[in-house]
Amino acid sequence: MSIICVIGTGYVGLVTGTCLADMGNQVTCVDIVQEKIERLKQGILPIYEPGLEEMVERNVQAGRLHFTTSYAEGLDSSEFVFIAVNTPTGNTQGGADMRYVEAAARSIAEELDHYAVIINKSTVPVGSGDFVSRVIQNNLKRADVSFSVVSNPEFLREGSAVLDFQKPDRVVLGSSDPEAAHRVAKLYLPLRAPFVITDLYTAEMIKYASNAFLATKISFINEIAQICERLGADVKEVAAGMGYDKRIGSAFLDAGIGYGGSCFPKDVRALAHMADEAGLHPQMLHAVMEINYDQRRLIVDKLTNILGTLRHCTVGVLGLAFKANTDDMREAPAVDIIRWITAQGAQVQVYDPVAKETGREALAREGVNMELVTFCENAYDVANNADALVIITEWNEFKSLNMQRIRGAMRRPVLIDGRNIYEPSEMNRCGFIYRGIGRGTGPAPTVLPPGDTTSILEQQVPLTLEEA
Ligand code: NAD
Ligand code: UGA
Repeated sequence: MSIICVIGTGYVGLVTGTCLADMGNQVTCVDIVQEKIERLKQGILPIYEPGLEEMVERNVQAGRLHFTTSYAEGLDSSEFVFIAVNTPTGNTQGGADMRYVEAAARSIAEELDHYAVIINKSTVPVGSGDFVSRVIQNNLKRADVSFSVVSNPEFLREGSAVLDFQKPDRVVLGSSDPEAAHRVAKLYLPLRAPFVITDLYTAEMIKYASNAFLATKISFINEIAQICERLGADVKEVAAGMGYDKRIGSAFLDAGIGYGGSCFPKDVRALAHMADEAGLHPQMLHAVMEINYDQRRLIVDKLTNILGTLRHCTVGVLGLAFKANTDDMREAPAVDIIRWITAQGAQVQVYDPVAKETGREALAREGVNMELVTFCENAYDVANNADALVIITEWNEFKSLNMQRIRGAMRRPVLIDGRNIYEPSEMNRCGFIYRGIGRGTGPAPTVLPPGDTTSILEQQVPLTLEEA
């Protein structure tokens, strides 16, 4: 059992603190937002994350998980102090805003009265471990207190954060103090994950490189989707065909409206900024960002190609969150798409199963004319009298809608499937003018289960002499 303090109770801090408590540790989570802490004490979570609420409740009841706004209380006897505060884009060039990390480091320095390992879990620019050390050293209230800094980037995804924390593909630790890194490794031993123990800079870089690589895969498949669309191939099958190659892998090859969220956009920007600052020219990262932005525009282009002007049209929008299973609206493509649609004079009817309040706030904050936006109770209400329906988030409940009913409710049967969740041929049969992302017009796909040679043989058409 270790005594742990986690600074920041957002997606990463709350999940980290709760999961560490669930592993038997004594955890105190600290946040500067009083209201958040008050609500957490009542069992009300600031975020939607499957499985987290029960886990918080269980660990609070067991006396292992506490919430406070007081650094003194959080740091009291803590052997490990995780910094898990936000690092949003901070300047117009895309660099990360380190204000929150700096403030957390200062507050730690002001209250620390014993040796502790300070762990950077926030995604921070390369060199930030040294920065945190400097801030703490320069602000220590007690000059005789020593500390070590370890970088421990987090790789969890929103929507599956608890499972991702509990079953990580790897645990990355970087420090100039190998003993401190090994102490942190011990905390994670019960997870039975591979460890990468390295220096500070390398650990920090592994995080950015990983996010940038995943974002690159997405922009790559989106570019391929555009080529598929032009040449008549189907990107879903292309991705499936590529994904069987173990060197490529099937993950993150879903073409769509592009990546959003609080991480990929800001982290690719921050990495490109770091490279720029270092005098490099990160061409590929810039291309990844450009392609990603274009995917959002593509949705509006598809709408106007079919409907002509959007003036006086009603567009139904299914989903607001940047992906399924979260209510997070940070850099959600829905915001740009709805802003552009309404700017052309269309009314929008939206529904998201979870991102209702966060969705409303984000649209208003980002300058959408809210008089043109109606929030509906379900997908069928969204379709009512709509001239087009746009699927933005791949929520499970959108995958098996009664499409006949949807079609019947609409004024014009236009379906723009930004997540490729429906089959073009089926939708055409259903009477829709269907546009996915990169879906060709070829025959319906034949996906055979692994090793099903009988069905392959049954389907084989004998070659003619010339073809052979
Ligand atoms: P978040 O915005 O959800 O939460 C950050 C929390 O920190 C907020 O509750 C805020 O009030 C609190 N905070 C800010 N300054 C503070 C201070 N000085 N003292 C105490 N609390 C303070 O952020 P997040 O999504 O959890 O991300 C945190 C970090 O982890 C970021 O660097 C992010 O890039 C990284 N990350 C996020 C994810 C993810 O899926 N969201 C995954 C991996 C890594
Ligand atoms: C991502 C990473 O997956 C995590 O490993 C990382 O820890 C996290 O960022 C972070 O650093 O904060 P997250 O943003 O929660 O996690 O969500 P993802 O599932 O990665 O999706 C990101 C975006 O890419 C979403 O908008 C999603 O719709 C989009 N995406 C994903 C695609 O467009 N296509 C795909 O094939 C996969």
